[in-house]
Amino acid sequence: MVERFYVTTPIYYVNDRPHIGHAYTTILADVLRRYYRLFGAETFFVTGVDEHGQKVEQAARKRGLDPQAHCDDMQRHFRDLWPTLHVEPDDFIRTTEPRHVRVVQRALQVLYDKGEIYQKEYEGWYSPAVERFWTEKDLVDGRCPESGAEVVYLKEKNYWFRMSRYQQRLVDYIDSHPDFILPEHRRNEVLGFLREPLQDLCISRPRSRLSWGIPLPFDEDYVTYVWFDALLNYVTAVGLWEDPQRFDTWWPAVTHLIGKDILTTHCVYWNAMLMALDLPLPRHFVAHGWWLVDDTKMSKSLGNVVDPLSLKDRYGPEVLRYYLMRDMVLGLDATFSEAALVARNNSDLANDFGNLLSRVTRMVHRGPYGGAVPERGELRADDEPVVAAIEGLKETVERLVRAWKVHQAIEETMQVVRRINKYIADTQPFRVVKTDAARAGTILYVALEGLRHAAALLWPVIPHKSREALDAVGWRGDVPTLPTLRFGDLQSGSPVAGRVRLFPRHAFEEQPASHGAPASTGVSAATKPGETKAAQTPAGAESASSKAMVTWDQFDALDLVVGTVAVAERVPKARKLLRLEVDLGSERRQIVAGIAAHYDPEALVGKQVVVLANLQPRKIFGLRSQGMLLAAEDAESGKLSLLAPDAPVAPGSRVG
Ligand code: MSP
Repeated sequence: MVERFYVTTPIYYVNDRPHIGHAYTTILADVLRRYYRLFGAETFFVTGVDEHGQKVEQAARKRGLDPQAHCDDMQRHFRDLWPTLHVEPDDFIRTTEPRHVRVVQRALQVLYDKGEIYQKEYEGWYSPAVERFWTEKDLVDGRCPESGAEVVYLKEKNYWFRMSRYQQRLVDYIDSHPDFILPEHRRNEVLGFLREPLQDLCISRPRSRLSWGIPLPFDEDYVTYVWFDALLNYVTAVGLWEDPQRFDTWWPAVTHLIGKDILTTHCVYWNAMLMALDLPLPRHFVAHGWWLVDDTKMSKSLGNVVDPLSLKDRYGPEVLRYYLMRDMVLGLDATFSEAALVARNNSDLANDFGNLLSRVTRMVHRGPYGGAVPERGELRADDEPVVAAIEGLKETVERLVRAWKVHQAIEETMQVVRRINKYIADTQPFRVVKTDAARAGTILYVALEGLRHAAALLWPVIPHKSREALDAVGWRGDVPTLPTLRFGDLQSGSPVAGRVRLFPRHAFEEQPASHGAPASTGVSAATKPGETKAAQTPAGAESASSKAMVTWDQFDALDLVVGTVAVAERVPKARKLLRLEVDLGSERRQIVAGIAAHYDPEALVGKQVVVLANLQPRKIFGLRSQGMLLAAEDAESGKLSLLAPDAPVAPGSRVG
């Protein structure tokens, strides 16, 4: 039987524009659904907006708009954002749509008729910020415990859902379904919540106080509480009561992705509602953590940082997708930083993946293969481990994604990419081709197949770039699903791209450190034996000499790579300077270095050096210098000695 995977995001409030937190959950949903597609499942992915309730009404009032006009305008920002992030939902639901209003009113009527909803007078502390009542002992310093906002004392007749009835059933269900609420610590949190007596849920608001909501079908003086309305979007979208066949196709094969902030509403309210409606419970709730900046949850306005969503324009949407998926362990919080995003781009995408792709395709074009996938000759012992790694990758990725470990699935894929890089360095097809073109062709075939596998398995995360990579290695078919991804299917003779540069490296420029960095001469020298330091301090790092600690992020932001000097010459009229061109694998850099007193230019050509590649470029003697060579300065003689790896490594290899 075909597997079905229905995935949802929370529907986002339209009181403000989308921000990085919304983007994260929605990209995650898109990535998961693409992985499940690769696994051969039929998939359905829904996102949308939550348009009712007090927050939205207030936002509309602030703009002097009627709430519907406000929603019509705001929903656009969400709907239009997703394609720019290469997110492709199957449905975008709005809670003001008639299809949803019908479902909410019917659900209310069904529950009312069954005696699951009743009216009672209640008095207590009401928090307009989070739209709920609190008991006296819940309050913190007399304020709302959730938002810290003011509360008002209200006495009101309202309608209540008999949620308390479902407490024990819910506990039993969670106990007997270990992967119902994930990760485990969130499951425990819900169980902890359910250890206290569960109250009934107030599901109405008097129209006199709030008019922006779905009217209760049995009492026109009330509108529906926003959460009771919003949660039902998940069943509206798959046709509850209106398209039974569609509903049975997707329900309950659903995974609800949520932030940890909305755990109770989903895992308690929603499940109790479903039980009361005699509908099966969802398969999984997966709660992720928050993206933080300076220990604060990121949301729209953070003042001191650039809008993280704008990074998609600077670095491209797929770099942002890759970073968000690779750097957050699903379930835990993560710290957002532009420097880390750039470091990920440079190390994983530009260096490991992009560089391998451009080198292998270049070698294919330089060799006698007519710019096409070479024949695959017999595999030898040195090929076998790498072929096994390539062949085994799809199972590893599937296992990890099914365990919700997306970051690890990506990492395993990159490990194989690194493995192929090493295989090229070990087997040296660029040398072998001179004496044995067939053997070199086999090595390149293995590398191309490895790249095809990696591209297919990264497709969920970087769909457009993967497609480009598949084309580049000569794969013209659809993105292979796992059952059709087989080593050896790449056709010899299929054209390989000539010049590919999928991911440019980026320099990350933060405000330079204020404490006078020495003028760069393109080389850095250590002040004490056994120590190196960069003459400038990129990424806002304190001087690396000894005094200040650098954070891991700051260190990660340094793009240290090995390069091979391709050209070296004196700079006319500058006694101390040499102009170098250094091969960094994917590109050649001009670097002006103050080492003329220590090195003859001729002696440098072919030498390997360590380059700080993401140093802010500067002009030295009218020449643009893009990077810095690292050197030690002998504490006694003052002689400069360039740092280099102690065995040859491929240009562009990372130092760290
Ligand atoms: N409208 C409700 C959800 C109703 S679902 C039936 C809501 N909307 S929201 O606009 O506030 O969106 C909250 C969701 O946005 C979180 O659950 C999470 O998915 C995402 N994020 C918001 N800020 C976030 C971070 N800083 N980090 C990660 N995701 C967070 O709640």
